[in-house]
Amino acid sequence: MQTEIAKTDIEVTTNETVRRAVGLLQSGDVVALPTETVYGLGADALDPAAVEKIFAAKGRPHFDPLIVHVPHKNSLYEITDVPEEIAKTVVQLVETFWPGALTLVLPRKPIIPDIVTGGLPTVAVRHCNHPIFHRIAKNFGRPIAAPSANMFGMLSPTSAQAVVDQMDGRIPLIVDGGACAEGLESTIIKIEPGEKKPIIHVLRPGPVTELDLKKFGKVVFAERNADVEDSTPEAPGMLANHYAPRTPLRVLERPTDFSPEPGKKYALLSYRGQSKDGYIDLHDWAEVSILSPGSGRVAEAGIRFFHVMRQLDQLGVDEIISEPFPDRAAGKAIRDKLSKAAMK
Ligand code: TXA
Ligand code: MG
Repeated sequence: MQTEIAKTDIEVTTNETVRRAVGLLQSGDVVALPTETVYGLGADALDPAAVEKIFAAKGRPHFDPLIVHVPHKNSLYEITDVPEEIAKTVVQLVETFWPGALTLVLPRKPIIPDIVTGGLPTVAVRHCNHPIFHRIAKNFGRPIAAPSANMFGMLSPTSAQAVVDQMDGRIPLIVDGGACAEGLESTIIKIEPGEKKPIIHVLRPGPVTELDLKKFGKVVFAERNADVEDSTPEAPGMLANHYAPRTPLRVLERPTDFSPEPGKKYALLSYRGQSKDGYIDLHDWAEVSILSPGSGRVAEAGIRFFHVMRQLDQLGVDEIISEPFPDRAAGKAIRDKLSKAAMK
């Protein structure tokens, strides 16, 4: 299959690209689309044959459910049955964070095919905040199922080129909407009625943080998160790692734990790039990539994470060594990705 890469840089190109993407979605095809978090691989969520093509293109096992992207906030109610006890909280969250990087797991209506949810009684829903995605979704007018546009288990793409690297020849169209502003996958939550206030279970940490969510309920981080891509016992062989570069990766909790093997080349993924953290001067690194130079803002580190990991992966070093990231805000998501990427 020939993969076309469609630009969205000037209005006429954008219009033509939007038409082309909508046409493919209407004919039951898969299209790579930009979102504000990471690029997604989209197809008509209500058409099981179209959704099947997503699984085939990604090499993704069917037990791993997809996120459904709704064209309007209110379309949420066409595909889910929101329980009365949490209805108010759902409205508040949607009004605050949509369009945006928050995904809600809610009981699904029968209109959502089994293949989307892996047979689960719930569906994950998001209303995305990317102007191009938004136009395509609105013109298409139906919910779009879209996982991240990477091959199963590999680094999530935050640019059109990163999608090309993994998906070339596997899908008909990649819509180039520029670099992703958030750079990390959406925060996934499930809401439970609590005694005093609702309980918000964070199934996957992401750009919407604990601080953002705690105004709406008690925030609890799930022991094992929603990424069944790595945690479902049915297919352990396939689940060895996730978010993974091809190069082996290790998180070095303490600088003193490092004992380099002679002749091997190591690259450092640094948080702030500061000597006082004890990593920069530890070794004659083949490369040092700093996620948040100087400022040490975890949000900035999150935005650059997948992009920088992809660059490090292309160096051909023997191992990528990562500094530990703070266990707060977007740092939680980075830690989550790193621990999975490092799993072997
Ligand atoms: O930012 C994002 O969320 C991106 C963009 C493209 O929207 N999408 C994304 O999709 O990250 P994906 O498929 O790579 O990750 C979705 C995760 C899966 O790991 C899956 O386990 C979880 O969402 N999920 C989907 N439906 C679920 C459900 N009903 N209950 C619990 N987890 C669910
Ligand atoms: Mg993914």
